[in-house]
Amino acid sequence: MTDTGRPTGRSWDTEQLPEGDEKVAAVRDMFDAIAPKYDRLNRIISLRLDVRWRRRAVRDLALAAGSRVLDLASGTGDLCVDLATAGLRPLSIDLSFGMLAADRSGVPRVQADILRLPVPDASTDGVTCGFALRNLADLPSFFDELGRVVRPGGRIALLDVGIPGNPVVRWGNDIYFGKVVPRIGALLSDGAAYRYLPKSVAYLPSAEEMTAQLLNADFEEVTHAQLSGGLTQLLTGTRSER
Ligand SMILES: C[S@@+](CC[C@H](N)C(=O)[O-])C[C@H]1O[C@@H](n2cnc3c(N)ncnc32)[C@H](O)[C@@H]1O
Repeated sequence: MTDTGRPTGRSWDTEQLPEGDEKVAAVRDMFDAIAPKYDRLNRIISLRLDVRWRRRAVRDLALAAGSRVLDLASGTGDLCVDLATAGLRPLSIDLSFGMLAADRSGVPRVQADILRLPVPDASTDGVTCGFALRNLADLPSFFDELGRVVRPGGRIALLDVGIPGNPVVRWGNDIYFGKVVPRIGALLSDGAAYRYLPKSVAYLPSAEEMTAQLLNADFEEVTHAQLSGGLTQLLTGTRSER
């Protein structure tokens, strides 16, 4: 929709959130479209807090230098840069050729749907995933896929946007993401994509549900942390030895 309510013809610009294959195609097309301006918008919208959240994810991944890490839904490679800076060996995997083309991290890149990873069982020491859980067509299947590819004792650190617990912060957050961010997006990038952002939070299950799904996918020591008052959430876990 345009700001005047007219449809824009973009597959991600719908009142009804898409599901299944339709969602995968809409998400890929949307990120292809916004890729060139993605980093700039991210820094503006998050007031650079996104930089701090990614560093926290790498810290809490807590893997030794030299460990192999798949950065899933890597986008333009911000997490890959932080992983490499910490002495880890990342591989960048994303669905969108546009985002991968904008990746300047210098680490190896692979185009794939992260629900079906092109890597053998137990082949990686760790996985990071930044701000993509809500974009996936089937979250429990993704967690099962992590359980398949992470070696026993390996680690995961998954970031996504959150819903602040404090009602005043939540109110401010709703206004910011519901009204301000779409206008910034329309001005500097693609209004439809930045209207999708606040709506897409509805896809995310509760912290308790995601924790249960990770335990079910053979992870243990699963933790859930609220960052910056709950603006963002971080899930970590260790692949069980079973
Ligand atoms: C909000 S961006 C986050 C990018 C990056 N992780 C970051 O922290 O800035 C979400 C990314 O998820 C990717 N993505 C969404 N669904 C995917 C899927 N099924 N498989 C692989 N990548 C996917 C998109 O192409 C996009 O690059």
